[in-house]
Amino acid sequence: MEQQKRYGHFDDNNREYVITDPQTPWPWINYLGNEDFFSLISNTAGGYSFYKDAKFRRITRYRYNNVPMDNGGRYFYIKDGDTVWNPGWKPCKTPLDFYECRHGMSYTRVTGRKNGVEASVLFFVPLKKWAEVQKLTLKNESNEVKNLKLFSFEEWCLWNAATDMENFQRNFSTGEVEIEGSTIYHKTEYRERRNHYAFYHVNTEIQGFDTDRETFVGLYNEFADPQVVMEGRPRNSHAHGWSPIASHYIEVTLKPGESKDFVFLLGYIENEQDKKFSAPQVINKDKAHALIAELDTTAKVDKAFAELCEYWDALLNIYKVRTGNDKLDRMVNIWNQYQCMVTFNFSRSASFFESGVGRGMGFRDSNQDLVGFVHQIPPRARQRIIDIASTQFPDGGCYHQYQPLTKRGNNDIGGGFNDDPCWLIFGTVAYIKETGDFSILDEMVPFDNQPGSEVTLFEHLKISMDHVIKNLGPHMLPLIGRADWNDCLNLNCFSWDPNESFQTTENVSEGTKAESLMIAGLFVVTGKDYVALCNKIEELKNGKIDNFNSSTLKSFNFSAEAERMQKAVDAMIEAVKKHGWDGEWYLRAYDFYGNKIGSNECEEAKIFIESQGWCTMAEIGAEDGMVAKSLDSCKKYLECEHGMVLNNPAFTKYIYEYGEISSYPEGYKENAGIFCHNNPWVIIGECIAGRGNDAWSHYAKILPSYVEEKYQTLHKVEPYVNCQMVAGKDAFKPGEGKNSWLTGTAAWMWYTVSEFILGIKPDYDGIRIDPCLPETAGDYTVNRKFRDAEYEITIHPNGQQKGVKSVTLDGQKIDGTVIPYSAGKHTVEVVM
Ligand code: GLC
Ligand code: GLC
Repeated sequence: MEQQKRYGHFDDNNREYVITDPQTPWPWINYLGNEDFFSLISNTAGGYSFYKDAKFRRITRYRYNNVPMDNGGRYFYIKDGDTVWNPGWKPCKTPLDFYECRHGMSYTRVTGRKNGVEASVLFFVPLKKWAEVQKLTLKNESNEVKNLKLFSFEEWCLWNAATDMENFQRNFSTGEVEIEGSTIYHKTEYRERRNHYAFYHVNTEIQGFDTDRETFVGLYNEFADPQVVMEGRPRNSHAHGWSPIASHYIEVTLKPGESKDFVFLLGYIENEQDKKFSAPQVINKDKAHALIAELDTTAKVDKAFAELCEYWDALLNIYKVRTGNDKLDRMVNIWNQYQCMVTFNFSRSASFFESGVGRGMGFRDSNQDLVGFVHQIPPRARQRIIDIASTQFPDGGCYHQYQPLTKRGNNDIGGGFNDDPCWLIFGTVAYIKETGDFSILDEMVPFDNQPGSEVTLFEHLKISMDHVIKNLGPHMLPLIGRADWNDCLNLNCFSWDPNESFQTTENVSEGTKAESLMIAGLFVVTGKDYVALCNKIEELKNGKIDNFNSSTLKSFNFSAEAERMQKAVDAMIEAVKKHGWDGEWYLRAYDFYGNKIGSNECEEAKIFIESQGWCTMAEIGAEDGMVAKSLDSCKKYLECEHGMVLNNPAFTKYIYEYGEISSYPEGYKENAGIFCHNNPWVIIGECIAGRGNDAWSHYAKILPSYVEEKYQTLHKVEPYVNCQMVAGKDAFKPGEGKNSWLTGTAAWMWYTVSEFILGIKPDYDGIRIDPCLPETAGDYTVNRKFRDAEYEITIHPNGQQKGVKSVTLDGQKIDGTVIPYSAGKHTVEVVM
């Protein structure tokens, strides 16, 4: 077999992915920042930074879909005699003697060597700081004295990333900067309503600077050959309008063997309205000076970096597995958890496929993401749930998205996606099981952020369930609305106008019969969770604790509520069995007219994955063999070499009644792509059914470390994280990945492996042990911190795929499979 080219490899000890060739098949990126200040950084140091919101508070400029790809970023130009090069190879692309990019946990280190000089840059955002540190170390590895000219480069975005890219009649006149010592300040629009500015600083004296892009680059030059750098002579330009940038010029002399550190700092500052200026037209720099003072030496920066590493140690120590299989361990212990935190921070807003201007935080997306990080940062998960619920409407419907800066629902997209409400139960239940914190249900949460409209969070959950019940169609199945989880199944849209959005156009909803089996399954799963939650609260109210403050919850009859919802769940199960079964699999939907979608009777797209996933997870009709048949059909019709496709066969033509799904060419995205997000649903279905071999083989197909080698070139996108979509079997090039990083796949892969395959499930009273494994699995150990306890759990599968025979806690056999929670350290032995 032909040897595949390799662009990098895992370094598990350092928790890094090491890229050894800058010309990866696509930019392979990483994320910096954990709270307010964020950056995207590619393996050649491309990318950009923003504060909280990639649309409204963009700090540096980035041009998507550029030629060449990924041009623009934080660049260091080193001029050594006549040779100009960059540590990350781009933009000059001068051949390097050595190149390496190490993407780690919230940091990236890019190292280049050329003609006896090594330049290594460590990029990270210190915890709790509004700044990106770029620590550049220059080292002379030659035998001669080196006289180097160093130029830094950042290009400012005029804050609103959307208008920055289009409103040039204004933008070219508004840009403003100030220069003070070694700091360049960007203050566009500060004179009027903005109370924030940015700065770019270096902790050494500079011998010159530039702040005007055309002066620095030259109108007929490029980032690859900026005229100032090529000539080795800064112009000390002061930008007025046009495109402000920040470039420092530093002359560096290095003796043989000598090395020097330079700390560059890209910072963001907000001032109080009455303290904006220190003199007319002069920005108040006090806070900038203070921030710089915190990070102006190598020692201070190294300390901040050590703190960041400790932060990640702590996060990744909460769930740790040792199976002896490196490929599995590295995904579970490092990369899958890391990707989950990235989706927590960014939702679907900013990646190299999401421009940061389109979508904020998704209602359904963020609730699903929550299961990926709730064990690591429960207090922030709590806040997230409340933020999400605050965008709900009084009838249980909700805004589909909200902006992270304002936390307000996004009116451009609105609501009407009928799966959305159910996800709130999914997220909240995961939070309570992890933390045991029932008091969240007692939080007063508004509707649509309107002060005065607050009700308890529990009430939000209740109306969420009711929203489904009140919107049933002719088969007593849930009406789909604009779409369910599949944004592209637009059964009430009927659009012939290419300028209409499939998501927000609803031309024909009056009298619709369009129903969703995906929501039906989701309703049964979350409905059972809701019933269990009500029963648990009732138990706690009568027994151990009664910590609800609000009078509505104090007097609420939770057992009656559980009964009411159980009836609705049972009715839904009956409806699915009666109207949702096609003989070999579950139907996908009924269209506007009440015709079947995802049926053997259909010409194309006879079977869809979403309803197989949700209805098998819900175990609907298991006793009649439906679950097993459905899972078998997934293997037979959906599975291919790279995973399971969304539907089969793919649509070959646009179907006006179905909407966007049929707009995609065969094998891509929602039209028969391998939409990785929903593969875990079927895998969990397999686990619940006890079919460990099948679950594992589906799982390994989309586990990045398992396909790393094969995917170095075919897959194209980063081999250390999941992507949203891999081209399906009907595509022109099956196996090609797209839309990496920001996908619900991260959380679902985590949920699947941590709870259903390895079988460590947080529950109200403790940890439930219920693995589902391939028969080849050997013994393994999971170290799990849980509330104030720490468990070391060793599982002996003994060739069994499912079924726990005995659980021994601290040497004592226990009844059942739930390890009762108690603080402190415990050892658990599990025999299957
Ligand atoms: C995208 C969206 C998600 C949706 C999915 C399927 O990933 O972020 O909300 O469920 O596509 O259409
Ligand atoms: C498109 C994409 C889908 C995404 C939606 C919302 O329809 O195919 O994946 O969820 O846009 O932005």
